[in-house]
Amino acid sequence: MLSGGPESALVPDAPDLDPAMLASGIPVFGICYGMQLLARHLGGELVKLERAEYGPAVLQVAARESPLFAGVPATSRVWMSHGDSVARLPAGFATLASTERCAVASMGDTVRRIYGVQFHPEVAHTEHGRAVLANFLSGIAEVPADWAMESFVDESIAGIRSTLGSARAICALSGGVDSAVAATLVARAVGEQLTCVFVDHGLLRAGEAEQVVATFRDVLHLDVRVVDARARFMQALRGVEDPERKRIAIGHAFIGVFEEAARAIPGVRFLVQGTLYPDVIESKTPMSKAGHKIKSHHNVGGLPERMSLELVEPLRSLFKDEVRALGRVLGLPEPIVNRQPFPGPGLAVRIIGDVTQERLRIVREADAIVREEIDAAPLDPHPWQYFAVLTPVRSVGVMGDGRTYANLVAVRAITSEDGMTADWARLPPELLERISTRIVNEVRGVNRVAYDITSKPPATVEWE
Ligand code: XMP
Repeated sequence: MLSGGPESALVPDAPDLDPAMLASGIPVFGICYGMQLLARHLGGELVKLERAEYGPAVLQVAARESPLFAGVPATSRVWMSHGDSVARLPAGFATLASTERCAVASMGDTVRRIYGVQFHPEVAHTEHGRAVLANFLSGIAEVPADWAMESFVDESIAGIRSTLGSARAICALSGGVDSAVAATLVARAVGEQLTCVFVDHGLLRAGEAEQVVATFRDVLHLDVRVVDARARFMQALRGVEDPERKRIAIGHAFIGVFEEAARAIPGVRFLVQGTLYPDVIESKTPMSKAGHKIKSHHNVGGLPERMSLELVEPLRSLFKDEVRALGRVLGLPEPIVNRQPFPGPGLAVRIIGDVTQERLRIVREADAIVREEIDAAPLDPHPWQYFAVLTPVRSVGVMGDGRTYANLVAVRAITSEDGMTADWARLPPELLERISTRIVNEVRGVNRVAYDITSKPPATVEWE
């Protein structure tokens, strides 16, 4: 399978395909840029589109009998992201599908078993993408479906051992599933050569910091150094209201704290990161190059260069659901494996405006109620992510005999595949009622609750 690569196969330095591979009779499948490379190398012609095609499109399958489209309806939704297009097919190829703006959305040479698709079958927005991939793998290439996560574990462990040798590595644990799985895998490979650092920035949800440390120390027996940096982060956040400045302040504080902790561990050469495949491809899409920065995501980017550490990224080829499956194979407890996505800057971006201890208490208590109630509800589908946001709004209320003038908490619950797009969850009114009543009764300082009914886009998942 050929996919990814530079933006344009028209550019002179586009990599060459191995002619021996193309002549060998091995089935070949080119995805997006991979299809363009195939077309170019097999004698077809490419053109640069006047306007790149990015986003959803309707695929019309012209060759319903093609094994590549077995079981795929005549029309379906696909995701496009390309600046070049195939203008003339190589000899022996036929057009298998098209979209309104892309005449050759799929091409194939049945005899040589060489196929290509211009759309992205691997993303959730492509309705029958998995079927197309499965059709190529089992129907055309006749690859037996015998891959198991256990073999991934064995191969990764061997690879990590040979990369690290006897060198030491460090890993920043965030409490999230990615860093947890990456650290566990590396620890399986090199044991005590790995030290984990957990920076307690004081912005996690109720009970989380304790849970992370207990799990990694007592259940997984990892070497975890806990740095209590709560005061430092509160100091860094003092008076910061602007969302972007907040994220940057937290990012800087994190790097400072982590660097200090890492320097205290002698002889470290490697930094373990839980980079996933979507992070790898996202940083290469035309959108990410040209797109506006919407939010500065907080991670340890930039650290490896500053500290001259080499990166170990054992999850680079996996999607999130595969990371969860890997976590289960490695014996990670369910609360970690199933943890909802949580922003690196934590509750700070769920407190609109100034972050203070008192406002942290309010959002933490309200969030615990939201999670408790939704976790216990038999919902289908279960929302993908849900939390409370403390707004800067205060409003008048009446409690008992008295007037109140207190905070407004917003509840957000979304359905999503990957957080890139999202819809607000249609929670039952009785559940919303319970959440609202409990928050107002149990969280001191809150007298009103609102439910966020905005999708992404146009809103984002987090409020800041
Ligand atoms: P947005 O708010 O950008 O969020 O629509 C999309 C998904 O990403 C999560 N998120 C983050 N994750 N670091 C992370 O690792 C961050 O700084 C960050 N900010 C948002 C968010 O919770 C949602 O699932």
